[in-house]
Amino acid sequence: MPVMSRVEAAFCRSAPWRAFTGRIVVPWVLRGEDLAGEVLEIGSGAGANAAVIAETQPQASITATDLDPTMVTAARARLAKYGTRATVAEADSTRLPFDDDHFDAAVSLLMLHHVIDWEAAIRELARVVRPGGRVVGYDLIATRGARLIHLADRSPHRLLSPNELCGSLIASGFHDVDVNPALGGLVARFHATAGPAL
Ligand SMILES: C[S@@+](CC[C@H](N)C(=O)[O-])C[C@H]1O[C@@H](n2cnc3c(N)ncnc32)[C@H](O)[C@@H]1O
Repeated sequence: MPVMSRVEAAFCRSAPWRAFTGRIVVPWVLRGEDLAGEVLEIGSGAGANAAVIAETQPQASITATDLDPTMVTAARARLAKYGTRATVAEADSTRLPFDDDHFDAAVSLLMLHHVIDWEAAIRELARVVRPGGRVVGYDLIATRGARLIHLADRSPHRLLSPNELCGSLIASGFHDVDVNPALGGLVARFHATAGPAL
């Protein structure tokens, strides 16, 4: 099964989307939080978000990962200029090729709804982010509009609700979980801390 439809994949690689997600979405998701150490991005697409993180978070090294080889190639080209501060790997977010507690933080931007078993991706984030590390992101909520867009577009998807996302983060062992609907309920922004509360 394709990861996304050709139309949506092309849109995610387009210059307007890259500018929007990099300049507007990343600061909005981070809410002023700094990222430091080894940072993982799952479903990183063409690498626009990872490039902004490499540019604006001097304490961070970013590992951008995506299941789609075309996205990986685009991200590699985009991130090459950051040298060892940005690496790219082809990886399925439900089976990440990284050791337990490998990362200090992780980012997931508008990708979970394309992972049919998105709960498995959350469990993998809980596994690879060290206790105390932050996971931040946002995703589409299961609204009528989101359903219609994806039916027309035909990308494989399984939309989530804020309650399901919150429950999955807690069930996977995160604490300080915060899931907030935004943009009139179209998306949910989330923040969580890996491992048990001290
Ligand atoms: C809507 S795009 C968003 C891309 C990027 N995060 C952004 O904000 O521009 C969703 C991305 O998730 C990737 N993806 C879908 N399923 C995946 C999976 N199981 N593991 C890793 N990446 C996946 C797709 O290839 C695509 O690049």
